[in-house]
Amino acid sequence: MSKDTLSIRHNRTGREVEYPLLKGTLGKETVDIRSLYKDLDCFSYDPGFMVTASCRSNITFIDGEAGVLLYRGYPIEQLAENCDFMEVAYLLMYGELPNRSELDIFVQEIGKRSILDESLRVFFEGFHYDAHPMAMLVGVVGSLSAFYHSELNMKDPEHRRICAMRLIGKMPTIAAASYRHSVGKPFVFPRLDLNYCENFLNMMFSRSSPNYIDPNHYIDPEAVKALNLSLILHADHEQGASTSTVRLAASTGANPYACIAAGIAALWGPAHGGANEAVLNMLATIGTVDRIPEFIAKAKDKKDPFRLLGFGHRVYKNHDPRARIIRQTCHDLLNSGKNADPLFDLALALEEYALQDEYFIERKLYPNVDFYSGIIYKALNIPVEMFTVMFAIARTAGWVSHWLEMMDEPNIPIGRPRQLYSGPDKREFLSIDER
Ligand code: CMC
Repeated sequence: MSKDTLSIRHNRTGREVEYPLLKGTLGKETVDIRSLYKDLDCFSYDPGFMVTASCRSNITFIDGEAGVLLYRGYPIEQLAENCDFMEVAYLLMYGELPNRSELDIFVQEIGKRSILDESLRVFFEGFHYDAHPMAMLVGVVGSLSAFYHSELNMKDPEHRRICAMRLIGKMPTIAAASYRHSVGKPFVFPRLDLNYCENFLNMMFSRSSPNYIDPNHYIDPEAVKALNLSLILHADHEQGASTSTVRLAASTGANPYACIAAGIAALWGPAHGGANEAVLNMLATIGTVDRIPEFIAKAKDKKDPFRLLGFGHRVYKNHDPRARIIRQTCHDLLNSGKNADPLFDLALALEEYALQDEYFIERKLYPNVDFYSGIIYKALNIPVEMFTVMFAIARTAGWVSHWLEMMDEPNIPIGRPRQLYSGPDKREFLSIDER
């Protein structure tokens, strides 16, 4: 019997089948049970995909026990320290870091695609002033499919590449437009002379007078640096719920803009990208350090649905490497004096308290990246409702890279899980008078 297999024995029928163990470049062995139904006439049950690899991918690797995150093999710490978000987006899309001229061309191409079609821009007028920016984002990104569908031959790699660039290019413009609409301010057009982060901040905060960028072209480098870091840390995370949603939607051959809109919808929930907004709201509800024990007790009470937001992760069971990096930036930004915020002190006190608590220690619940990212966004004056939108801007680079990778495969099986049915047994229909 080969050692690179795993045997599954059906104890009722006595039938035993050997399944191959697949080995990737890094990470756990993975048993290939695709023929389980044919061989043993049963399905596998794995709600929440706790142990199921849904695809092969070359993009991102996570070792949850060791707290390792690699984009295309590069440790997140090195990318966060040295890169501009555009370099990371290029790396995720193409698999290699760009040289200077490749990067220049990429940045120009992205910039060229940052402008919104006028008819798309007026879509915002259809939203009520208090619409959540994520609701606008999901709607407007989905609507891109009505504009560029005819230009998209999914079999043409160049068409697919343009589609990916268009999404990365337009996402900050749509995001900033959602914010401007919600505060009743006119849209600010993208500026190609600014870098990705500067341009976003300018579209968010420019006023006819004074401009966010003053006549001396000053833009707070600390703000740009912090935003750039946050975008890099959120750019990809292998098969998270939103990326899996993009892949599932794409497996049907759906329009890519609609697939990304599906990813945005999945991101929105507080268990995923919505956590950063939820953390800030939670801190505001806790209010003061003396109330921390009360909320920790709530989080531990199994009868109470409350969870300590920004704590825990499905994959990281030691520490979230993104959280380590961003925590330091949080400190730097807030210690610079410009952005002192009592919520940050509260966050640190909460972190300290939870990390000493047996419940959190036993379950390996550590602060995740979104425990800190909201605090950074707040320091940049980005409103709380925009936090998950910020995550979406960053993750677009990951989503489109996964979509491109998937579209390159010769056979794309439709994503169609099975189920364990537990409803009523087959029964006879009763007419309305007999019921
Ligand atoms: N507060 C209190 N208890 C928790 C928490 C929490 N934040 N997270 C997990 N637990 C408990 C959970 O009740 C369970 O306890 P027990 O074993 O006694 O039943 C145990 O820890 C294991 O939890 P789980 O629900 O099986 O873990 P999961 O891997 O399914 O969930 C999670 C991961 C992120 C959804 C969850 O930890 C959570 O809801 N955290 C808060 C939301 C959050 O911060 N999300 C952002 C994740 S980072 C951004 C991203 O990548 O999307």
